[in-house]
Amino acid sequence: MQQRKIALIGGGQIGGTLALLAMQRCLGHVVLLDMAGGVAAGKALDLSQMAALSSSDVQLVGGDQPNSIADADVCIVTAGFPRKPGMDREDLLQKNLDVMRQVADHIVRYAPQAFVICLTNPLDAMVYALHKMTRLPKQQIVGMAGVLDSARFRTFLAQQLGVSRRDVTALVLGGHGDDMVPLPRFCSVGGIALPQLVQMGLLQQQQLDDIIQRTRQGGGEIVQLLGNGSAFYAPAQSALDMAEAFLMGTGRVLPCAALLEGEYGVSGLFVGVPAVLGGQGVQQVLQLPLQQEELAAFENSVQSVRRSVQQVDRLLTKQVDTVASA
Ligand code: 2OP
Repeated sequence: MQQRKIALIGGGQIGGTLALLAMQRCLGHVVLLDMAGGVAAGKALDLSQMAALSSSDVQLVGGDQPNSIADADVCIVTAGFPRKPGMDREDLLQKNLDVMRQVADHIVRYAPQAFVICLTNPLDAMVYALHKMTRLPKQQIVGMAGVLDSARFRTFLAQQLGVSRRDVTALVLGGHGDDMVPLPRFCSVGGIALPQLVQMGLLQQQQLDDIIQRTRQGGGEIVQLLGNGSAFYAPAQSALDMAEAFLMGTGRVLPCAALLEGEYGVSGLFVGVPAVLGGQGVQQVLQLPLQQEELAAFENSVQSVRRSVQQVDRLLTKQVDTVASA
């Protein structure tokens, strides 16, 4: 079978971890693209030597040549600036929008058929911008956020209850920001939904509220601890799970930032919703029967996404006007 090609656009901490994970899972040949070509080449060479010590025969190359992503099956976009302590993801919007412009050009020119997974922050705005600039079909582009946020929620809940993370499921929807929407009714421990767990006295409501808040701040907590960047192991694994669902056609049901066209009463925005990811990309958005309070929280989060996207539109329009008047 023809080896698949995975283009990692951005060779920083997340990109390097993605390359490692893709090599270990033998998901396909890996191309690491970064404007710091030496860093991308060095990581690819180091990982190739690591592959010699493992059972992986995938090829790994790295550099700064955009044409290296040609004909990729999947493009995972992490290029851009990470947060520094005290920054909000939104603070990255203008700088990372400039980066997305270049990334969009590369994808359109060299890998227009690729399934695109965006991680660059502010996520909901950047995947929107990437979609707008590449004009890819909505099935072919998605943002990674909910898988990561749900993994954080699961971790904190498992710690609180003293149970295995493997037996905790979670669903975190909405924007990838401080008003993201963990949905306790759709989270469970060993199949027991969280509201029942509270009723059974195994979890206090205040403990659950604290876990929800800590999940919302989960990215910032790691930025504060690291001091010079943001999380990268869990974001990389989250994105690779999404890429694997596409490459293997497994039909995973995962919370993803998908383009909504009327679902949940939202149109024209990428927002975290449960989606079926398979060989055709984003194959279906699942519409949960949200209760009034859940819907209000979701709509509140969508408002934050809308404000962020409006800033993107303003900047993109300004750029067009500037070019037109030149
Ligand atoms: C996070 O939440 C990087 O946005 C990512 O850690």
